[in-house]
Amino acid sequence: MDGGGGPTDRVRVELGARSYDILIGAGVIDRAGTLVGPLLRRDRVLVVTDETVARLWGGRFEAALAAADIAAETITVPAGEVTKSFAWLERLCAACLDRGLERGDLIVALGGGVVGDLAGFAAAILLRGVRFVQVPTTLLAQVDSGVGGKTAIDMPQGKNLVGAFHQPSLVIADTATLDTLPPRQLRAGYAEVVKYGLIRDRDLFAWLETGGPALLGGDAAARGRAIGESCRAKAAIVAADEREAGERALLNLGHTFGHAFEAAHGYGDRLLHGEAIAVGMVLAFALSVRLGLCPADDAARMRAHLAAAGLPVELSAIAGADWTADRLIALMQADKKVAGGRLTFVLARGIGDAVVMGEVDTAAVRDLLDDALRR
Ligand SMILES: NC(=O)c1ccc[n+]([C@@H]2O[C@H](COP(=O)([O-])OP(=O)(O)OC[C@H]3O[C@@H](n4cnc5c(N)ncnc54)[C@H](O)[C@@H]3O)[C@@H](O)[C@H]2O)c1
Ligand SMILES: [Zn+2]
Repeated sequence: MDGGGGPTDRVRVELGARSYDILIGAGVIDRAGTLVGPLLRRDRVLVVTDETVARLWGGRFEAALAAADIAAETITVPAGEVTKSFAWLERLCAACLDRGLERGDLIVALGGGVVGDLAGFAAAILLRGVRFVQVPTTLLAQVDSGVGGKTAIDMPQGKNLVGAFHQPSLVIADTATLDTLPPRQLRAGYAEVVKYGLIRDRDLFAWLETGGPALLGGDAAARGRAIGESCRAKAAIVAADEREAGERALLNLGHTFGHAFEAAHGYGDRLLHGEAIAVGMVLAFALSVRLGLCPADDAARMRAHLAAAGLPVELSAIAGADWTADRLIALMQADKKVAGGRLTFVLARGIGDAVVMGEVDTAAVRDLLDDALRR
C-alpha cells in the first residue's frame, strides 16, 4: 500500500468491537483526511496539540483534513508534562465544550505522549466518552503511548494516577514527523523499542544491534520497520491483556526502577522517561543475573547496545547527590503497580524472555542499588 511519501504499514489491534488500526509510514499524515473522514458523523474534528507540534506539524495536518473538506478546530496547550494535570484537563474539557463538542464527535491528539494521555483522558470522560484518534509525533508515542488505550494525568502523589482505559479509534504514526524531534527525545523513545526486543523478541533485538544506528540516524525504512515491529509487539500484548491483569505487565520491564528514578528527579528534562528506563532495564537484567535467572552475557549484551545508542546505562550517571537505595525503594513501593506492599519486577531469563516476578527480595534490590549508586 502506498501512502503520501512511501509504503504504509498497517497493524491491527484486536479488541473485538474496540479493534483499531495503526497506520505507519512516512507522509501518512497527509492522508489524515481520507483516513479520519469515514469515522466522522459531521465534517469537523477537534484537534488537541501542543505549541511545539502545532508550529511544526499543525498546518500540514490541518491541510490534510481540509483536503477532505474536514474543518479542524485546533486547541493548543503548552508543551511539556505540566499539562497532564487536573487544571489543564479542566481547561481542555471546557475548550472542547465551548466549541460545541457533541457525543458523536471525534477528538484528535496530535503530539507526543503528553498530548495523547491528556487528550485521550479528556475524550474518555467528556460527555461520558467520545471517540479519539492518536496522531503520535514522538518515537515514544509512536511505539508506546499512542497504542494501547491507557490515558491519564499526573497527581502530586505520582505520575498517571488518575486516568482511564480508552482505546483510540485509529492511530496515524507518521515516521517523517520524527525528522524534527530533538535527538535526545529520539534516543529516549528508542529505549522503548529496545524494550520490545528484550521482552520477547530476540530477533528484533539482534536486528536493532545492526539496524538501530540507521534508525537513530534518520533512515526511513529502519524507522518504519522498528515502529511496525514495536506496534505489533504491543498490539499482541494489549489484545491478550487489555487491562493489565497479567501479561501486559511485561511492558513494564525497567519501569519499576525507572519510575523511581523519574520520581526522585521530580519529572522534567533532567531525566527523560526513556533514559530512566534504559538504566532501569540494565538494572532489571543485573538483578536477574544476581538471582541466577539470566546469563551474564545477555545482560552485558543489552547494556552494550543501550550504551551504543547513546542512552545512559549507569545509575550513578543519572543519580542525584542525595539518592540512597532506601529512598529509591520507598519510591518503588509508592508506585501504582505495587500489590499488597510487595515489589513486583519484570525480570529476564535472557534477551527476549522477560517474566513478571511478584515477590522479589527487597534485600537483593537494596544491594543492587547500593552497588550501582557507588559505581
Ligand atoms: N499511555 C501510555 O501507555 C503511555 C506509555 C508511555 C508513556 N506515556 C506518557 O507519555 C509521556 C511522554 O511522552 P513523550 O516522550 O512523547 O513526551 P512529550 O509529549 O512531552 O514530547 C516530548 C517533547 O517533544 C516535543 N515534540 C513532540 N513531537 C515533536 C516533533 N515531531 N518534533 C519536535 N518536537 C516534538 C513535545 O512538544 C515535547 O516538548 C509521559 O507523560 C508518559 O507518562 C504514556
Ligand atoms: Zn515506558
